[in-house]
Amino acid sequence: MFLSDDGSGMPSSTHNNPLWSALFKHRERLADVRVADLFDGDPQRQTHMSAAGPNGVFFDYSKNLIDDDALRALLALVEQLEITKQIEHQFAGDILNVSEQRPVLHTALRAKSASAFEQQHPNIAEDVAQTLKRVEQLVADVHTGVWRGHTGKQITDVVNIGIGGSHLGPQLVSDALRGYGTGNCRVHFLANVDDAEFARVVTPLNPAETLFIVASKSFGTKETLLNALSARAWLLSELKDDDATAQHFVAVSANVTKAVDFGIAEQNIFPMWDWVGGRFSLWSAIGLPIAMLIGMDNFRALLRGAADMDEHFASSPVAENLPIIAALVGFWNRNMCELNNYAVMPYDDRLRDLAAFLQQLEMESNGKRVDSNGEPIHHHTVPVVWGGIGTNAQHAFFQMLHQGTQTVPIDFIAVLEATANTEHHDALIANCFAQAEGLMIGRDIVGDGELANHRRTPGNKPSNMILLDTLSPQSLGSLLAMYEHKTFVLGLLWQINSFDQWGVELGKALADDIEGEIAGNATRSHDGSTQQLIERYLSKARDSKR
Ligand code: F6P
Repeated sequence: MFLSDDGSGMPSSTHNNPLWSALFKHRERLADVRVADLFDGDPQRQTHMSAAGPNGVFFDYSKNLIDDDALRALLALVEQLEITKQIEHQFAGDILNVSEQRPVLHTALRAKSASAFEQQHPNIAEDVAQTLKRVEQLVADVHTGVWRGHTGKQITDVVNIGIGGSHLGPQLVSDALRGYGTGNCRVHFLANVDDAEFARVVTPLNPAETLFIVASKSFGTKETLLNALSARAWLLSELKDDDATAQHFVAVSANVTKAVDFGIAEQNIFPMWDWVGGRFSLWSAIGLPIAMLIGMDNFRALLRGAADMDEHFASSPVAENLPIIAALVGFWNRNMCELNNYAVMPYDDRLRDLAAFLQQLEMESNGKRVDSNGEPIHHHTVPVVWGGIGTNAQHAFFQMLHQGTQTVPIDFIAVLEATANTEHHDALIANCFAQAEGLMIGRDIVGDGELANHRRTPGNKPSNMILLDTLSPQSLGSLLAMYEHKTFVLGLLWQINSFDQWGVELGKALADDIEGEIAGNATRSHDGSTQQLIERYLSKARDSKR
């Protein structure tokens, strides 16, 4: 049986929805059930607890402690909350982000043809198409040498300066699809304000051959602006001509005024819109570094893959709808089984940044404690999302997953198409399947040798297995869109707004204050600990500068 946070085994939610109560009853009924036994009782379990989506995405959730009755109860909740209607509202461009009064239309960035949102938002399709054309032009110009640096040299390196949604998606996709690189330029990412990252990423480059993309929806993110200023200073100190900025800086932003004030020529600013959330923005011009790396045809294939998943999400029956099923399993594990963690484990080096991307996607979207109307909620929302890469993680933290006191549901992700070395790929996949199996079946140790308790592995640990036939722009687009929609559905199940992020504001404001104090421009009273830390920093920093 699963343990809850407080070890009682009982869920703590006080939610008074009768369907939640019914689900808790199913959870209690399954308390002593072993998933392995559910397979014995139903030889077809794996068939009806898996579903196929577009572009070779396959989702097997049969290793979770859910049976048909519990699943039916989960599907009843989908019906009660009219989730399919909410999905229609999203695609139609209704105001879903109520605290900011915005529609949520990242799906418009990849829509294939006349779409539901056009009735309310007649200009969006044209804006998207125009922007894609401009991205295409810049990519072609850089690749063919029509766009050159200030001294006439061809651009060989593109540095994306951005953080959060203006970094994680583009970095994940660029890394995942590096095999599709056109070879025309290299792409780098500068996100952290830590100057060690600047030294690692930028300093080794040749400024005459480097193009910076300042990617910031708001153009107000301090880290990005400071990095952009340092990049410009680095460039100008080498090229020794203030006019050089124009050929070495472009921007992607919804705030054209600020980008122009920064010194970026208006014709080199690519638009973003308030109807695209940062963490959902890799499909917009924020994806420019991806297009620079893999070329426009592949970038468009990525968009098509996402659009295919959008269609699947909008039209597949609920019980076969991958994002909805993934959300229901996540909801079951979080709220009924009280599991407060969730790990993402790709068995594929190309997907090594997936956990970081999903951390922002899921935790920034659903790390909320009030409902869409601002009223406190009485159930848990997003679990802690973390992860690693297989097989490395097996030799690091899988011990805890097998024998620790907390149960952590896992998304295993593997790509079936063999890589260059079949022997390695076979071993990789075998390990992936073995871990999922081992976590579920566990191992009993017969006999009472003194090591029996040490060796006994309880099993009954839930996991999903997500298989991709191949890792292509299209399948990756589908995979990421699946997670986007899963996040939205979880938000609906939790009755929260997944599309704002007010919680990140406090830290930004306090950092501004403290920065001012460190610069000697202001003083403010702090708690004793923070005051001590500031004073210690000031004295050590002064010492180290002496
Ligand atoms: O601080 C959080 C956040 O606002 C994210 O939501 C966003 O993706 C990131 O910062 C970067 O924002 P911007 O693109 O406006 O620089």
